[in-house]
Amino acid sequence: MVDKTILVTGGAGFIGGNFIACFSKKYPEYRLINLDLLTYAAHKELFQKQKQNANVIPVQGDICDRSLVRSLLEEYAVDGVIHFAAESHVDNSIADPFRFIQTNIVGTTTLLDEALCYWRKTKKLDKARFHQISSDEVYGTLGEDGFFREDSPYRPNSPYSASKASADLIVRSYAQTFGMNVVTTHSSNNFGYWQHDEKLIPTVIRKALAGEVIPIYGTGTNVRDWLWVGDHYRAIDAVFHHGRSGESYNVGGGNERTNLEIATQICRILDDVKPLPSDRYESQIELVADRPGHDFRYAVDCQKIRDELGWKPECTFDDALRKTVLWYVERFSRKACGS
Ligand SMILES: NC(=O)c1ccc[n+]([C@@H]2O[C@H](COP(=O)([O-])OP(=O)(O)OC[C@H]3O[C@@H](n4cnc5c(N)ncnc54)[C@H](O)[C@@H]3O)[C@@H](O)[C@H]2O)c1
Repeated sequence: MVDKTILVTGGAGFIGGNFIACFSKKYPEYRLINLDLLTYAAHKELFQKQKQNANVIPVQGDICDRSLVRSLLEEYAVDGVIHFAAESHVDNSIADPFRFIQTNIVGTTTLLDEALCYWRKTKKLDKARFHQISSDEVYGTLGEDGFFREDSPYRPNSPYSASKASADLIVRSYAQTFGMNVVTTHSSNNFGYWQHDEKLIPTVIRKALAGEVIPIYGTGTNVRDWLWVGDHYRAIDAVFHHGRSGESYNVGGGNERTNLEIATQICRILDDVKPLPSDRYESQIELVADRPGHDFRYAVDCQKIRDELGWKPECTFDDALRKTVLWYVERFSRKACGS
């Protein structure tokens, strides 16, 4: 018996894929439609696996495709949207901003507009919820001190963060203008299984194992707050079900580390689990030319989600990083054997 049907976008990517695995287990009475274009960033194996899950329907397609989005909303009588799909890599947004404008802004508007039409027609507008998955990067950059709050001004610095900020503002406008029931979450940097190899943590592990230079931007002192992807899943679950309509919530792990600290910690885990015969992995770390417009520090104040919804991160950073490293060691060695 299907209790609720939710359109999840980008569910073959890193966070969406982890989300679907946990959410579908916790709510077997929900039907999840995963709309994913299967870009280079998607995991086709996750998408295939979802076909075996009785309450997940994976659909390959573009969130910018109006008629496809409309037909999914109607065919499956969708009651909610949880929107992960995006171009997500800052470096790619510097090389090719237009793809980010198209997917992150036009795609989000397409979903909103079609959901608005469908929920108006079916008189579900007040109950059906649109959850925008956003980033702390929309707030810009911090110095050594302070935290972003939900009322901090938007000051995005990269084409990626500007496209996410634009999408968030369009989401807000659909609540203010049309009365849509929306919530937005701003999470810090996620880590865990299934992150694309291009991102910092998988890159450090991949390069270390391949005996290559481990490149770290600038002076390595840029700070990110790391959030275990499973803790992010729990926050989305809480906000989607119980967050106040029209509100946004920051979600952070409380694990601020410089990029150099992260790379060094990963190298030490590798020294332990896959020791080199006569060297340490750290010797492969090299500082390289900085990313243009590189934000110095992100850190979010999560008091609102703690107070209102009782959410707090549960993972221990060191344990979760170790689990993550072990998962990639296994993955990269399988890849190296061609399996
Ligand atoms: N990774 C992080 O640390 C982080 C932090 C904060 C917020 N976010 C946000 O969380 C969301 C998910 O991030 P992620 O790291 O899992 O990204 P990802 O790049 O791993 O996955 C994105 C997924 O979206 C799909 N996709 C891309 N364009 C699409 C389109 N036009 N139509 C349908 N599907 C499309 C891709 O195929 C992929 O499966 C994004 O909105 C991102 O901005 C990520």
